[in-house]
Amino acid sequence: MRTSVVIVGAGPAGLLLGQLLLKAGVDNIILEQRSAEYVLGRIRAGVLEQGAVRMLEEAGVGARMHALGHEHGGFDLLFDGQRHRIDLKGLTGTSVMVYGQTEVTHDLMDARAATGGVTVYEAEDVSIHDFDGTAPKVRYRKDGQTHEIDCDFIAGCDGFHGVCRKSVPEKSIKNFERVYPFGWLGVLVDQPPLHHELIYANHERGFALCSQRSLTRSRYYVQVPLSEKVEDWSDERFYDELRSRLDPEAAANLKTGPSLEKSIAPLRSFVAEPLRFGRLFLAGDAAHIVPPTGAKGLNLAASDVHYLSTGLIEHYRKGDSRELDAYSHKALARIWKAERFSWWMTSILHRFPDAGDFGHRIQQADLEYLVSSKAAMTSLAENYIGLPY
Ligand code: APR
Ligand code: PHB
Repeated sequence: MRTSVVIVGAGPAGLLLGQLLLKAGVDNIILEQRSAEYVLGRIRAGVLEQGAVRMLEEAGVGARMHALGHEHGGFDLLFDGQRHRIDLKGLTGTSVMVYGQTEVTHDLMDARAATGGVTVYEAEDVSIHDFDGTAPKVRYRKDGQTHEIDCDFIAGCDGFHGVCRKSVPEKSIKNFERVYPFGWLGVLVDQPPLHHELIYANHERGFALCSQRSLTRSRYYVQVPLSEKVEDWSDERFYDELRSRLDPEAAANLKTGPSLEKSIAPLRSFVAEPLRFGRLFLAGDAAHIVPPTGAKGLNLAASDVHYLSTGLIEHYRKGDSRELDAYSHKALARIWKAERFSWWMTSILHRFPDAGDFGHRIQQADLEYLVSSKAAMTSLAENYIGLPY
């Protein structure tokens, strides 16, 4: 078998890259270790920057997003019992789109099926070879048989635990990492959101977030120590904890119901450098992780795919490799800014076990400055809506 680009991983990064390449006439095969149902069952964040919206439109999957997604012109920050609205639209002229990642993945899968793109689900033991030479190969097993694909390039879109980054010799890659001493306990529920926009709360009991997927489906989170076990959290205990971290009006508006999903996610910042190793390119969570505060994960995958797809398409269309050569540098410059923003938003909104009194006062000062300075709010807003690309 032969194709131009083998894409490992059918998450949003792999599917979006595959779709943009197909549209430009660059053939590709996606190899995914899980089933399509499994991929669609993963619950992740749901806030899209305008850049990601534009990329999805370019990939031809904008229609359902525009019909079902909701534009949000702002969000609330809650601390010391007071809510402060961050007027994203007023400060930057731009809003964000609230549309779940599950839906994005669904739309991309449908589009790929409609364009006849090949995706091999349940591809086992994917391994990548010879990417430091001119003729890379990718092997996998499916239904007991081993297959080999010859290609020009490999795109490692296989997430943080994938095989691509791990196949790079240790001496060629540098990893940067910060692990946070807490996680997010999240609940998905079929009830209307308690507020029409998102609320991010810093409370003495810990961070809380009131998010949403639609007018009838809500997503809530509370910060918990990493030692917590999800089995110890009944729905009732979760809602009581959430209410205790909100202002009376928000708490009174919380509509509860049986959780559709409940899980604890650890928080991590991670970047691998560089993003290119010969004919292997890393993109999305395979290359970097952000803590979920600010919802940059999917948005960063989209900007990586913008730079990478541009590079690959120019290589095939014009025989011009300058954009491809610039991929790692250009993508990393934006990645680090989103890493900084996610780290900062995490640090002002969470309770850190080792912050001490000094750390706590600094955090308070950061929040008070933020909501009293138009310059500070504009900086928050322009990062939240997404830096340009
Ligand atoms: N072989 C094949 N596929 C693999 C392998 C492997 N060895 N390892 C992982 N995968 C698949 C995973 O099953 C997953 O479907 O790669 C895919 C990676 O998808 P994501 O983890 O969603 O990563 P990405 O596409 O970069 O998405 C970035 O979306 O999922 C969120 O938190 C993520 O918000 C971030 C954004
Ligand atoms: C979510 O809806 O899951 C979500 C929204 C905003 C965030 C993080 C997660 O900052």
